[in-house]
Amino acid sequence: MDTLLLVKHLTKKFHDFTAVEDVNFEARGGEIFGLLGPNGAGKTTTLRTIATALQPTSGTAIVAGYDINEQPEEVKKHIGVLTTDIGVYDRLSGRENLSYFGELYGMSAVDIQRRIKELSDLLEMNDFIERRAGKYSTGMKQKLAIARAVIHNPDILIFDEPTSGLDVLASQTVLNFMKRSKDQGKCVILSTHQMIDAERLCDRVAIIHQGRMIADDTVSNIENITRTENLEDAFLKLIKDVPAEKTSAPITNNNSLKSRLMLTPKWIWSAAIIALAGAHLFFQILPQLETQRSFGYLFIVVAVFILMFNKYYVRRRR
Ligand SMILES: Nc1ncnc2c1ncn2[C@@H]1O[C@H](COP(=O)(O)OP(=O)(O)OP(=O)(O)O)[C@@H](O)[C@H]1O
Ligand SMILES: [Mg+2]
Repeated sequence: MDTLLLVKHLTKKFHDFTAVEDVNFEARGGEIFGLLGPNGAGKTTTLRTIATALQPTSGTAIVAGYDINEQPEEVKKHIGVLTTDIGVYDRLSGRENLSYFGELYGMSAVDIQRRIKELSDLLEMNDFIERRAGKYSTGMKQKLAIARAVIHNPDILIFDEPTSGLDVLASQTVLNFMKRSKDQGKCVILSTHQMIDAERLCDRVAIIHQGRMIADDTVSNIENITRTENLEDAFLKLIKDVPAEKTSAPITNNNSLKSRLMLTPKWIWSAAIIALAGAHLFFQILPQLETQRSFGYLFIVVAVFILMFNKYYVRRRR
């Protein structure tokens, strides 16, 4: 099958914080590609960047032949994305929501209704599709969000934690939908914390940790290389095995002047408290001496400076 998604040296920074660094992978039609990683690893950021919801800081992705930097509108037509922040309109019914998003993609009324019928059957939404989405349970809302993401029948489906909050039955329905999409030749990217699902479903997986990819292979190869018997053990081993300096380098900006001076918030707060205590001592013990009083003022100035710097520093880190 053809390569439908090619991610090349993708890097995404938020101010001076590197959330994703030099991520590379490719995924083909007719396969389910897993993107795994602990909380905060950079999975959602990677997927949102590929889906053109975020602009990469550097690097790119080619989606169905279109570059995310140069042809974002074409990319959007060929990609369907489910992320945790995807919204549906509470005041509209499930059907009305899907019709609305179908129209946004320029689909004809006939195509929209045909597609709604297909998705409603596949995702088992027939019992509630006419009801207002505001009254839906978590699982119903998630199914509607999935249907919304794929209403235009895209070639590449990106599912970021699609089964989160779903019961066993609903999870099964969503996983079956992914398998069916794969069988139809679609390229499915699945990000999940459910290792069992990834093991069962994914043809290949990439593991991302602290913004960097640390593995990209078939599940069985990853298990062989790590000498483990299941993906969960392999995952834990890989995460633990990455040397501390390697994992922290891309995202904590260890080389910056601030880090080299050890200006962590904890350190700064301690310095400020010591400076204030010093000022207090000079005022209390030797109030009559002009020089000591000047020292007291100096301490306060230093403490205020440190506190202001700390505020700025903590804000920049967020
Ligand atoms: N808009 C943003 N501004 C600043 N930092 C952000 C932003 N979005 C994400 N981050 C940071 O980027 C890092 C990666 O976040 P991301 O949501 O991609 O992780 P994730 O792998 O999807 O984690 P999870 O498994 O918890 O969903 C985190 O440290 C997060 O705080
Ligand atoms: Mg996420």
